Amino acid sequence: MEKTLNYALVGCGGFGGSHLIALTSMEHTKIVALCDVHMEQCEKKKEEFRLDANCYTDMDEMLNNEDIDVVVVATSDKGHMPCTIKALEAGKHVMCEKPMSLFVDECEKMVKAADESGKLLMVGQVCRCAPAFVKTKEIIESGLIGDLYFVESEYAHDYLNVRGVDDWRVDADREPIIGGACHAIDLLRWLAGDPTETSAFSNHKMLPGWPVNDTTVAILKFPNDVIGKVFTSLGCKRNYTMRTVVYGTKGTIIVDNTSSEFQLFLEKDDSRDMFAGGYFGENAERGIKHCIKVPVNNHNVKAEHQQLREAILENKPLITTGREGARTVTVCRAIVESAKTGNTVKIKYTV
Ligand SMILES: NC(=O)c1ccc[n+]([C@@H]2O[C@H](COP(=O)([O-])OP(=O)(O)OC[C@H]3O[C@@H](n4cnc5c(N)ncnc54)[C@H](O)[C@@H]3O)[C@@H](O)[C@H]2O)c1
Repeated sequence: MEKTLNYALVGCGGFGGSHLIALTSMEHTKIVALCDVHMEQCEKKKEEFRLDANCYTDMDEMLNNEDIDVVVVATSDKGHMPCTIKALEAGKHVMCEKPMSLFVDECEKMVKAADESGKLLMVGQVCRCAPAFVKTKEIIESGLIGDLYFVESEYAHDYLNVRGVDDWRVDADREPIIGGACHAIDLLRWLAGDPTETSAFSNHKMLPGWPVNDTTVAILKFPNDVIGKVFTSLGCKRNYTMRTVVYGTKGTIIVDNTSSEFQLFLEKDDSRDMFAGGYFGENAERGIKHCIKVPVNNHNVKAEHQQLREAILENKPLITTGREGARTVTVCRAIVESAKTGNTVKIKYTV
């Protein structure tokens, strides 16, 4: 019989709800506890999802009282470190939302706590589960587009009315390149490796009442002589998507996480008959441009939880570990430093 895992959710807001949607659709999964600094947030979720779970405003009390295997931390960003460390010290596995923290030293403490507890720490860098990006990685690794030479991604999203409970997103420490563009940076790290240096520019025209620059462009140097670019804007007037372009010596991929197909460009070569209904299915066009059909699932939280479950019960490796989350925050911080000082910054990874 499959083992049932018991879950606690800490942070019962918007994205906590996305975790509950995922977890309540999985078999052998029970949500036993909900915790939030505002009791009404817990109660709303308990009712909405018809859960047989206890509600808490005090996480210590929850950890004392419940038979919990996994704690999901979906608080505002500044709750990630204290809640994750508490849960690990209590002997629980943790799924912590992105960004792992706003600060590298906090990420280091979280990684240390996970190492000392012997429990698993996963960070919700969910782009690694978006079907279009998973396929993109597969194509890169197959060698089809040759050696990478340029990669770019973006996080463009109008946050004007997405301030969070108690306005937590409006925070001088929450630079958009960390809070939002950690997605684009983590994606490029996953596809092209750990960047070694960065040079960035920011401005502040779109969210004038907010205490941070709202737009940043960063140039990055990746391993193997690959160069890259990340753009973020948190006040932009357009739809949300993460347009990403991956250039290789034999082909190019133009992909995002909100479309049901993406483009693969290859030099015309009739010997590549795998595209005539083969490798990419019968919808793939033959020629220079190939349209690859993918399911749209830009917040595939269920896939994250399935990975964590398999890591806990079957010892399978986690893709987005605490160390991965920490290295992404390290790149984000280097970009902030470069934009503030006007200097190129070497990126030093400490975990
Ligand atoms: N993976 C993604 O794509 C994605 C998308 C949206 C949000 N997020 C992340 O999820 C987290 C939550 O975002 P949201 O949009 O749900 O915010 P939200 O404001 O809707 O909800 C946050 C909840 O956490 C509670 N909270 C804050 N500090 C707490 C603490 N110390 N202990 C217990 N509860 C606490 C708040 O009361 C609120 O109910 C953020 O870190 C955000 O960056 C990730």
